Amino acid sequence: MTESLTVKLDSRSYPIHFSSALAKLASKVNELREDNKSICVIADAGSHEAHPNFLIQAGFLKSEILVLPSGEKTKSIGCLNQSLRFLAEHNLNRDSALFAFGGGVVGDLAGFTAASYLRGIDFYQIPTTLLSMVDSSVGGKTGINLPEGKNLVGAFWQPRAVFIVADLLQTLPMREFSAGMAEVIKYGMLADKSLFRELESIDYINAQAPSLPSIIRRCCSIKAQVVANDEKETAISGGRTLLNLGHSFAHAIENVAGYGEYLHGEAVAIGLILATELSVKLGQIQESEISRVRAILESNLLPTTLKDPLPISDLMQALQRDKKNRSGKLRFVSMQAIGNAITSENVDSQMAETIWTRAGAK
Ligand SMILES: NC(=O)c1ccc[n+]([C@@H]2O[C@H](COP(=O)([O-])OP(=O)(O)OC[C@H]3O[C@@H](n4cnc5c(N)ncnc54)[C@H](O)[C@@H]3O)[C@@H](O)[C@H]2O)c1
Repeated sequence: MTESLTVKLDSRSYPIHFSSALAKLASKVNELREDNKSICVIADAGSHEAHPNFLIQAGFLKSEILVLPSGEKTKSIGCLNQSLRFLAEHNLNRDSALFAFGGGVVGDLAGFTAASYLRGIDFYQIPTTLLSMVDSSVGGKTGINLPEGKNLVGAFWQPRAVFIVADLLQTLPMREFSAGMAEVIKYGMLADKSLFRELESIDYINAQAPSLPSIIRRCCSIKAQVVANDEKETAISGGRTLLNLGHSFAHAIENVAGYGEYLHGEAVAIGLILATELSVKLGQIQESEISRVRAILESNLLPTTLKDPLPISDLMQALQRDKKNRSGKLRFVSMQAIGNAITSENVDSQMAETIWTRAGAK
Protein backbone atom coordinates (compact mmCIF):
# COMPACT_ATOMS: atom_id res chain seq x y z
CA MET A 1 0.00 0.00 0.00
CA THR A 2 1.38 3.44 -0.88
CA GLU A 3 2.21 5.54 2.14
CA SER A 4 0.87 8.90 0.94
CA LEU A 5 -1.36 10.45 -1.64
CA THR A 6 -1.58 14.01 -2.88
CA VAL A 7 -4.50 16.40 -3.04
CA LYS A 8 -3.67 18.13 -6.32
CA LEU A 9 -4.34 21.87 -6.06
CA ASP A 10 -1.40 23.40 -7.99
CA SER A 11 0.81 25.39 -5.61
CA ARG A 12 -1.44 24.44 -2.68
CA SER A 13 -1.16 20.69 -3.28
CA TYR A 14 -0.57 18.67 -0.14
CA PRO A 15 0.09 15.12 1.00
CA ILE A 16 -2.10 12.85 3.10
CA HIS A 17 0.23 10.48 4.93
CA PHE A 18 -0.93 7.01 5.96
CA SER A 19 1.16 4.05 7.11
CA SER A 20 4.23 5.89 8.44
CA ALA A 21 2.31 9.03 9.34
CA LEU A 22 3.68 9.38 12.87
CA ALA A 23 7.28 9.27 11.60
CA LYS A 24 6.41 11.78 8.86
CA LEU A 25 4.76 14.03 11.44
CA ALA A 26 7.79 13.89 13.76
CA SER A 27 10.05 14.71 10.85
CA LYS A 28 7.88 17.69 9.82
CA VAL A 29 7.86 19.04 13.39
CA ASN A 30 11.63 18.65 13.53
CA GLU A 31 12.06 20.41 10.17
CA LEU A 32 9.92 23.37 11.32
CA ARG A 33 11.97 23.62 14.52
CA GLU A 34 15.25 23.56 12.61
CA ASP A 35 13.91 26.43 10.51
CA ASN A 36 13.14 28.30 13.78
CA LYS A 37 9.42 28.36 13.08
CA SER A 38 7.02 28.64 16.01
CA ILE A 39 4.50 25.85 16.36
CA CYS A 40 1.23 25.71 18.28
CA VAL A 41 -1.24 22.84 18.66
CA ILE A 42 -4.97 23.02 19.26
CA ALA A 43 -6.03 19.70 20.76
CA ASP A 44 -9.37 18.14 21.61
CA ALA A 45 -9.54 17.22 25.32
CA GLY A 46 -10.92 13.72 24.62
CA SER A 47 -8.23 12.91 22.04
CA HIS A 48 -5.48 14.30 24.28
CA GLU A 49 -6.73 12.34 27.28
CA ALA A 50 -7.01 9.11 25.28
CA HIS A 51 -3.48 9.53 23.85
CA PRO A 52 -1.49 11.56 26.40
CA ASN A 53 1.90 10.64 24.90
CA PHE A 54 1.09 11.07 21.25
CA LEU A 55 2.04 14.73 20.91
CA ILE A 56 5.27 14.12 22.85
CA GLN A 57 6.15 11.19 20.56
CA ALA A 58 5.50 13.44 17.58
CA GLY A 59 7.99 16.00 18.89
CA PHE A 60 5.65 18.65 20.29
CA LEU A 61 7.25 18.59 23.75
CA LYS A 62 8.37 22.21 23.51
CA SER A 63 5.27 23.45 21.69
CA GLU A 64 2.43 25.46 23.13
CA ILE A 65 -0.70 23.30 23.28
CA LEU A 66 -4.20 24.66 23.75
CA VAL A 67 -6.53 21.88 24.90
CA LEU A 68 -10.20 22.67 24.24
CA PRO A 69 -13.27 20.88 25.59
CA SER A 70 -14.75 18.10 23.46
CA GLY A 71 -18.04 18.65 21.70
CA GLU A 72 -19.74 20.71 19.03
CA LYS A 73 -20.01 23.76 21.36
CA THR A 74 -16.26 24.25 20.87
CA LYS A 75 -16.90 25.29 17.26
CA SER A 76 -17.97 28.71 18.57
CA ILE A 77 -17.00 32.39 18.40
CA GLY A 78 -15.86 32.09 22.03
CA CYS A 79 -13.37 29.30 21.30
CA LEU A 80 -12.28 31.02 18.08
CA ASN A 81 -11.49 34.11 20.15
CA GLN A 82 -9.60 31.95 22.66
CA SER A 83 -7.62 30.22 19.88
CA LEU A 84 -6.71 33.46 18.07
CA ARG A 85 -5.57 35.07 21.31
CA PHE A 86 -3.57 31.96 22.17
CA LEU A 87 -1.63 32.37 18.91
CA ALA A 88 -1.13 36.09 19.52
CA GLU A 89 0.01 35.54 23.14
CA HIS A 90 2.66 33.14 21.88
CA ASN A 91 3.79 35.60 19.23
CA LEU A 92 3.07 33.41 16.24
CA ASN A 93 4.02 35.18 13.03
CA ARG A 94 3.48 34.56 9.31
CA ASP A 95 6.11 31.79 9.32
CA SER A 96 4.48 29.88 12.16
CA ALA A 97 2.41 26.74 11.94
CA LEU A 98 -0.72 25.51 13.68
CA PHE A 99 -1.54 21.81 14.12
CA ALA A 100 -5.01 20.41 14.91
CA PHE A 101 -5.14 17.22 16.99
CA GLY A 102 -8.67 15.89 17.31
CA GLY A 103 -11.85 15.15 15.40
CA GLY A 104 -13.83 17.34 13.03
CA VAL A 105 -14.70 19.85 15.74
CA VAL A 106 -11.12 20.83 16.54
CA GLY A 107 -10.06 20.42 12.90
CA ASP A 108 -12.74 22.87 11.68
CA LEU A 109 -12.04 25.39 14.47
CA ALA A 110 -8.23 25.22 14.22
CA GLY A 111 -8.42 25.43 10.42
CA PHE A 112 -10.49 28.60 10.61
CA THR A 113 -8.17 30.00 13.29
CA ALA A 114 -5.22 29.39 10.94
CA ALA A 115 -7.12 30.93 8.01
CA SER A 116 -7.93 34.09 10.01
CA TYR A 117 -4.77 34.74 12.06
CA LEU A 118 -2.50 37.21 10.23
CA ARG A 119 -4.72 36.54 7.16
CA GLY A 120 -3.57 32.94 7.07
CA ILE A 121 -0.79 30.80 8.51
CA ASP A 122 0.26 27.23 7.76
CA PHE A 123 -2.05 24.57 9.11
CA TYR A 124 -1.67 20.80 9.57
CA GLN A 125 -4.30 18.19 10.42
CA ILE A 126 -3.82 15.19 12.75
CA PRO A 127 -7.33 13.66 12.74
CA THR A 128 -8.27 11.31 15.58
CA THR A 129 -11.82 10.18 14.68
CA LEU A 130 -12.85 8.00 11.76
CA LEU A 131 -15.07 10.80 10.45
CA SER A 132 -12.20 13.29 10.48
CA MET A 133 -9.78 10.80 8.88
CA VAL A 134 -12.05 10.03 5.93
CA ASP A 135 -13.77 13.37 5.57
CA SER A 136 -13.25 16.59 7.53
CA SER A 137 -9.43 16.72 7.62
CA VAL A 138 -9.20 16.67 3.81
CA GLY A 139 -10.55 19.35 1.51
CA GLY A 140 -10.04 22.63 3.33
CA LYS A 141 -13.53 23.42 4.61
CA THR A 142 -13.02 25.15 7.97
CA GLY A 143 -15.38 27.07 10.20
CA ILE A 144 -17.47 27.52 13.29
CA ASN A 145 -21.16 27.54 14.22
CA LEU A 146 -23.37 30.47 15.23
CA PRO A 147 -26.34 30.13 17.56
CA GLU A 148 -28.42 30.59 14.36
CA GLY A 149 -26.97 27.52 12.63
CA LYS A 150 -24.09 25.16 11.90
CA ASN A 151 -21.01 26.12 9.88
CA LEU A 152 -22.35 29.61 9.14
CA VAL A 153 -18.89 31.22 9.39
CA GLY A 154 -15.84 29.76 7.72
CA ALA A 155 -13.24 29.75 4.99
CA PHE A 156 -11.67 27.41 2.49
CA TRP A 157 -8.19 26.94 3.94
CA GLN A 158 -6.30 23.87 2.81
CA PRO A 159 -3.94 22.16 5.23
CA ARG A 160 -0.24 21.82 4.32
CA ALA A 161 -0.41 18.11 5.15
CA VAL A 162 -2.69 15.56 6.80
CA PHE A 163 -1.23 12.83 9.03
CA ILE A 164 -3.51 9.81 9.43
CA VAL A 165 -2.51 7.46 12.23
CA ALA A 166 -5.24 4.80 12.18
CA ASP A 167 -4.03 3.34 15.51
CA LEU A 168 -5.47 6.41 17.25
CA LEU A 169 -8.91 4.95 16.53
CA GLN A 170 -8.37 2.11 19.03
CA THR A 171 -9.71 4.36 21.81
CA LEU A 172 -12.58 5.92 19.87
CA PRO A 173 -15.98 5.16 21.47
CA MET A 174 -17.98 2.66 19.42
CA ARG A 175 -20.83 5.08 18.74
CA GLU A 176 -18.35 7.62 17.28
CA PHE A 177 -16.71 4.87 15.21
CA SER A 178 -20.07 3.85 13.73
CA ALA A 179 -20.84 7.50 12.95
CA GLY A 180 -17.61 7.62 10.92
CA MET A 181 -18.64 4.43 9.12
CA ALA A 182 -21.68 6.28 7.74
CA GLU A 183 -19.28 8.54 5.80
CA VAL A 184 -17.26 5.50 4.67
CA ILE A 185 -20.42 3.82 3.35
CA LYS A 186 -21.34 7.12 1.68
CA TYR A 187 -18.11 7.02 -0.38
CA GLY A 188 -18.94 3.53 -1.61
CA MET A 189 -22.43 4.67 -2.60
CA LEU A 190 -21.32 7.82 -4.37
CA ALA A 191 -18.18 6.78 -6.20
CA ASP A 192 -16.85 3.28 -5.52
CA LYS A 193 -19.08 0.25 -6.02
CA SER A 194 -16.23 -2.14 -5.24
CA LEU A 195 -15.76 -0.44 -1.84
CA PHE A 196 -19.51 -0.84 -1.28
CA ARG A 197 -19.29 -4.55 -2.18
CA GLU A 198 -16.30 -5.00 0.11
CA LEU A 199 -18.23 -3.42 2.99
CA GLU A 200 -21.19 -5.69 2.18
CA SER A 201 -18.95 -8.74 2.37
CA ILE A 202 -17.66 -7.88 5.86
CA ASP A 203 -20.23 -8.13 8.63
CA TYR A 204 -18.98 -5.27 10.69
CA ILE A 205 -15.86 -3.12 10.80
CA ASN A 206 -14.20 -1.91 13.97
CA ALA A 207 -10.91 -0.20 14.81
CA GLN A 208 -9.12 -3.59 14.85
CA ALA A 209 -10.22 -4.62 11.35
CA PRO A 210 -7.15 -5.38 9.20
CA SER A 211 -8.84 -3.78 6.18
CA LEU A 212 -9.50 -0.46 7.96
CA PRO A 213 -6.32 1.40 6.89
CA SER A 214 -6.88 0.56 3.23
CA ILE A 215 -10.57 1.54 3.51
CA ILE A 216 -9.60 4.93 5.01
CA ARG A 217 -7.11 5.41 2.21
CA ARG A 218 -9.72 4.68 -0.48
CA CYS A 219 -12.11 7.21 1.05
CA CYS A 220 -9.38 9.87 1.18
CA SER A 221 -8.46 9.14 -2.39
CA ILE A 222 -12.06 9.73 -3.54
CA LYS A 223 -12.27 12.96 -1.52
CA ALA A 224 -8.88 14.14 -2.82
CA GLN A 225 -9.95 13.61 -6.42
CA VAL A 226 -13.33 15.32 -6.02
CA VAL A 227 -11.76 18.31 -4.20
CA ALA A 228 -9.00 18.63 -6.82
CA ASN A 229 -11.68 18.93 -9.53
CA ASP A 230 -14.05 21.30 -7.73
CA GLU A 231 -12.28 22.82 -4.72
CA LYS A 232 -14.91 25.43 -3.84
CA GLU A 233 -18.02 23.51 -4.88
CA THR A 234 -18.80 25.73 -7.84
CA ALA A 235 -19.46 23.04 -10.49
CA ILE A 236 -22.89 23.51 -12.13
CA SER A 237 -23.68 19.84 -11.65
CA GLY A 238 -21.91 16.99 -9.86
CA GLY A 239 -18.52 18.05 -8.45
CA ARG A 240 -17.92 18.51 -4.73
CA THR A 241 -21.68 18.59 -4.06
CA LEU A 242 -21.71 14.81 -4.64
CA LEU A 243 -19.85 14.38 -1.33
CA ASN A 244 -23.10 15.53 0.24
CA LEU A 245 -25.01 12.35 -0.64
CA GLY A 246 -27.60 11.91 2.13
CA HIS A 247 -26.61 15.20 3.76
CA SER A 248 -29.66 17.34 2.81
CA PHE A 249 -31.83 14.91 4.76
CA ALA A 250 -29.19 14.59 7.51
CA HIS A 251 -28.82 18.34 8.06
CA ALA A 252 -32.62 18.70 8.23
CA ILE A 253 -32.82 15.90 10.84
CA GLU A 254 -30.02 17.45 12.95
CA ASN A 255 -31.63 20.86 12.73
CA VAL A 256 -35.17 19.78 13.62
CA ALA A 257 -34.21 17.21 16.28
CA GLY A 258 -31.84 19.74 17.89
CA TYR A 259 -28.05 19.57 17.49
CA GLY A 260 -26.55 16.78 19.60
CA GLU A 261 -29.62 14.55 19.51
CA TYR A 262 -28.07 12.57 16.65
CA LEU A 263 -24.36 12.34 15.93
CA HIS A 264 -23.72 13.76 12.47
CA GLY A 265 -22.90 10.28 11.11
CA GLU A 266 -26.12 8.86 12.54
CA ALA A 267 -28.16 11.53 10.76
CA VAL A 268 -26.12 10.83 7.59
CA ALA A 269 -27.01 7.11 7.86
CA ILE A 270 -30.74 7.95 7.81
CA GLY A 271 -30.02 10.44 5.03
CA LEU A 272 -28.31 7.73 2.94
CA ILE A 273 -31.31 5.44 3.10
CA LEU A 274 -33.60 8.37 2.17
CA ALA A 275 -31.32 9.37 -0.72
CA THR A 276 -31.61 5.76 -1.92
CA GLU A 277 -35.43 5.93 -1.64
CA LEU A 278 -35.31 9.18 -3.61
CA SER A 279 -33.17 7.59 -6.33
CA VAL A 280 -35.76 4.81 -6.65
CA LYS A 281 -38.62 7.33 -6.85
CA LEU A 282 -36.74 9.27 -9.54
CA GLY A 283 -36.48 6.03 -11.53
CA GLN A 284 -32.69 6.01 -11.30
CA ILE A 285 -32.10 2.72 -9.44
CA GLN A 286 -33.93 -0.52 -8.63
CA GLU A 287 -36.00 -0.82 -5.46
CA SER A 288 -33.88 -3.82 -4.37
CA GLU A 289 -30.93 -1.45 -3.71
CA ILE A 290 -32.77 -0.03 -0.68
CA SER A 291 -32.42 -3.28 1.26
CA ARG A 292 -28.70 -3.51 0.36
CA VAL A 293 -28.08 -0.02 1.75
CA ARG A 294 -30.20 -0.71 4.83
CA ALA A 295 -28.34 -3.97 5.55
CA ILE A 296 -24.91 -2.36 5.37
CA LEU A 297 -25.94 0.53 7.63
CA GLU A 298 -27.58 -1.77 10.18
CA SER A 299 -24.62 -4.14 10.29
CA ASN A 300 -22.48 -1.11 11.20
CA LEU A 301 -24.87 -0.30 14.07
CA LEU A 302 -26.30 2.77 12.35
CA PRO A 303 -29.93 3.93 12.44
CA THR A 304 -32.08 3.86 9.30
CA THR A 305 -35.20 5.48 10.77
CA LEU A 306 -35.80 8.35 13.18
CA LYS A 307 -35.60 7.62 16.93
CA ASP A 308 -38.78 9.64 17.48
CA PRO A 309 -41.10 10.97 14.80
CA LEU A 310 -40.28 14.55 13.73
CA PRO A 311 -42.84 16.87 12.06
CA ILE A 312 -42.66 16.66 8.26
CA SER A 313 -43.48 20.37 7.97
CA ASP A 314 -40.41 21.29 10.03
CA LEU A 315 -38.20 18.87 8.10
CA MET A 316 -39.45 20.34 4.81
CA GLN A 317 -38.71 23.87 6.01
CA ALA A 318 -35.19 22.79 6.92
CA LEU A 319 -34.79 21.18 3.47
CA GLN A 320 -35.86 24.44 1.80
CA ARG A 321 -32.92 26.16 3.55
CA ASP A 322 -30.38 23.62 2.20
CA LYS A 323 -27.33 25.29 0.63
CA LYS A 324 -27.56 22.97 -2.40
CA ASN A 325 -30.93 24.35 -3.54
CA ARG A 326 -30.93 26.62 -6.59
CA SER A 327 -33.51 29.39 -7.22
CA GLY A 328 -35.76 28.07 -4.45
CA LYS A 329 -36.01 24.58 -6.06
CA LEU A 330 -35.06 21.45 -4.12
CA ARG A 331 -31.81 19.95 -5.32
CA PHE A 332 -30.49 16.61 -4.07
CA VAL A 333 -27.65 14.21 -4.60
CA SER A 334 -29.05 10.88 -5.79
CA MET A 335 -27.63 7.73 -7.42
CA GLN A 336 -27.83 6.39 -10.97
CA ALA A 337 -26.34 3.21 -9.56
CA ILE A 338 -24.57 2.30 -6.35
CA GLY A 339 -21.15 3.86 -6.86
CA ASN A 340 -22.39 6.57 -9.23
CA ALA A 341 -23.95 9.70 -7.68
CA ILE A 342 -25.42 12.64 -9.58
CA THR A 343 -27.14 15.92 -8.71
CA SER A 344 -30.90 15.90 -9.28
CA GLU A 345 -32.50 19.32 -9.87
CA ASN A 346 -36.08 20.51 -9.32
CA VAL A 347 -37.15 17.63 -7.11
CA ASP A 348 -40.87 17.76 -6.41
CA SER A 349 -41.53 18.71 -2.78
CA GLN A 350 -44.43 16.21 -2.64
CA MET A 351 -41.92 13.46 -3.39
CA ALA A 352 -39.65 14.67 -0.57
CA GLU A 353 -42.60 14.71 1.84
CA THR A 354 -43.46 11.09 0.98
CA ILE A 355 -39.85 10.08 1.52
CA TRP A 356 -39.82 11.59 5.01
CA THR A 357 -42.66 9.26 6.00
CA ARG A 358 -40.36 6.29 5.19
CA ALA A 359 -38.01 7.47 7.97
CA GLY A 360 -40.91 7.65 10.43
CA ALA A 361 -41.64 11.39 10.20
CA LYS A 362 -45.25 12.48 10.75
N1 LIG B 1 -14.69 20.31 7.33
C1 LIG B 1 -15.37 19.33 6.76
O1 LIG B 1 -15.24 19.06 5.57
C2 LIG B 1 -16.29 18.51 7.61
C3 LIG B 1 -16.85 17.34 7.11
C4 LIG B 1 -17.65 16.56 7.95
C5 LIG B 1 -17.90 16.97 9.25
N2 LIG B 1 -17.34 18.14 9.71
C6 LIG B 1 -17.54 18.58 11.10
O2 LIG B 1 -16.92 17.61 11.96
C7 LIG B 1 -17.52 17.71 13.24
C8 LIG B 1 -17.71 16.31 13.79
O3 LIG B 1 -16.45 15.70 13.87
P1 LIG B 1 -16.21 14.31 14.61
O4 LIG B 1 -17.29 13.36 14.22
O5 LIG B 1 -14.81 13.94 14.35
O6 LIG B 1 -16.52 14.64 16.14
P2 LIG B 1 -15.70 15.34 17.32
O7 LIG B 1 -14.58 16.13 16.84
O8 LIG B 1 -16.75 16.01 18.15
O9 LIG B 1 -15.15 14.08 18.14
C9 LIG B 1 -16.07 13.14 18.65
C10 LIG B 1 -15.77 12.72 20.08
O10 LIG B 1 -14.73 11.75 20.05
C11 LIG B 1 -13.71 12.09 20.98
N3 LIG B 1 -12.45 11.59 20.41
C12 LIG B 1 -11.86 12.03 19.28
N4 LIG B 1 -10.84 11.24 18.96
C13 LIG B 1 -10.76 10.29 19.91
C14 LIG B 1 -9.93 9.18 20.11
N5 LIG B 1 -8.98 8.84 19.23
N6 LIG B 1 -10.12 8.42 21.22
C15 LIG B 1 -11.12 8.71 22.09
N7 LIG B 1 -11.96 9.73 21.94
C16 LIG B 1 -11.79 10.52 20.86
C17 LIG B 1 -13.79 13.58 21.12
O11 LIG B 1 -13.28 13.99 22.37
C18 LIG B 1 -15.30 13.81 21.01
O12 LIG B 1 -15.91 13.62 22.25
C19 LIG B 1 -18.81 18.48 13.06
O13 LIG B 1 -18.65 19.77 13.61
C20 LIG B 1 -18.97 18.61 11.55
O14 LIG B 1 -19.61 19.81 11.16
C21 LIG B 1 -16.55 18.91 8.92
